[in-house]
Amino acid sequence: RSVTPLVAMGRSRVLPVLVLDDVRHAVAVATALRAGGLPIAEVTLRSRYALEVLREMSSVDDVMVGAGTVTRPEQVERVLAAGGRFAVSPGFSPGLVRECHRQGLPILPGVATPTELQAALDAGVDTVKFFPAAASGGVRMVRAMSAPFPHVRMVPTGGITAAGMSEYLALPTVLAVGGTWLAPAEWVCAGRYDLVELAARDASKRVLEEVSV
Ligand code: 3PG
Repeated sequence: RSVTPLVAMGRSRVLPVLVLDDVRHAVAVATALRAGGLPIAEVTLRSRYALEVLREMSSVDDVMVGAGTVTRPEQVERVLAAGGRFAVSPGFSPGLVRECHRQGLPILPGVATPTELQAALDAGVDTVKFFPAAASGGVRMVRAMSAPFPHVRMVPTGGITAAGMSEYLALPTVLAVGGTWLAPAEWVCAGRYDLVELAARDASKRVLEEVSV
């Protein structure tokens, strides 16, 4: 429990987003991501057993797991009970942010416009998910939105690929990038944890290259 979720994201710089409904894959996927250098994951609450997946993954040593697609205040307690260390939501909702702050769960609300960003700042948020990143203007939009808000850190997510991640990471306001490309459902369901590890390794390598340029 030594580092905070934001510190962990800033270290890995890539946040694997998982859409996973079969608890049998949970530990293997977490282990593969960790082996590939990304000891962090966002488990989206889009499926029936997502909380169980979250619980299993959070039992893996040295892996930090949070919940994604959190949209309602009543989910916050369940996320905490399952071992979730942070929450991510697709949009900004003041009630959800309030509940997360009340229960001490770090939350990254999704924003795609300056108005939404200002509303999130008013609610006491300092790090947001920029979503859906590619469809909302991608790197150019992040750069443009960051001009008036240079202290707000962003985690662009949505439509990001291995080839596209470095351009986002080069922006000073980008804390990390998120995406499902590291562990797509096809690989996971087929038990191809080796491909998950390879994708994580490839992303970790790109992060290092980003630092050295
Ligand atoms: C999310 O919830 O963050 C997105 O579904 C991830 O988008 P991607 O599949 O385009 O990476």
